[in-house]
Amino acid sequence: MKILGFMGSPRTRGLCSQFTESVLKGAASAGAEVKQFNLVKYKITYCRGCYKCVYGNHELSIGKCPLRDDMAGILKEYLEADGYIMACPVYDFTVTSVMKAFIERRFPMFYKTKGAIGIPDARVKQNFKKKALLLATGSAREEFADMAEPCFEVMSGHFMVEEVEVIERLYVGFIHNFDEQRYAEKIQQTFALGVRLVEEIAKAQDT
Ligand SMILES: Cc1cc2nc3c(=O)[nH]c(=O)nc-3n(C[C@H](O)[C@H](O)[C@H](O)COP(=O)(O)O)c2cc1C
Repeated sequence: MKILGFMGSPRTRGLCSQFTESVLKGAASAGAEVKQFNLVKYKITYCRGCYKCVYGNHELSIGKCPLRDDMAGILKEYLEADGYIMACPVYDFTVTSVMKAFIERRFPMFYKTKGAIGIPDARVKQNFKKKALLLATGSAREEFADMAEPCFEVMSGHFMVEEVEVIERLYVGFIHNFDEQRYAEKIQQTFALGVRLVEEIAKAQDT
């Protein structure tokens, strides 16, 4: 089983990254192969909105994007994986531009026939056998977790269409005011979520 963590903080050694790593460590402890993508380190050009990926090559499981950067390789790994963590700090009530650029470039996972009504559909439906976790960090206290909702919506939109089940949305707040004890608690919580992710995927794959 392979679990990928897509981490959208520009600070690759920050807390968002550390909690992503902790989820992945939990997943690895439960037997998964894991990989963390610190997205800021990859060449991910902005989507140009040409729609070539969506309108062409409907026989392929991943459409062809004319942009030449790291995304084609990432999407191949994305399709092969069994589970995902999308993790991002809240920046101005939504995801960072790093995360948003990545999400927009997932457009080749979708297709649409010219002239068809409605939004593009997923090229490959996962029938809820694949699962995902969403993690957002922010300076607002956890009692204001609603503030992170737009972040979760943006990170889960594609999963909804691809039929990947989001099993948990975790907001870690008051991020600039951590003491040792709270840090240890959050590491434990995120580690446990990684274990749970693997267990839920295994259960779904068995049925
Ligand atoms: C440009 C910018 C905008 C931010 N906007 C918000 C916000 O709207 N709400 C919030 O709770 N925190 C906000 N923050 C705080 C970040 O969420 C916080 O620094 C981040 O989660 C820490 O994660 P890191 O250690 O990975 O950098 C903002 C920070 C920056 C730099």
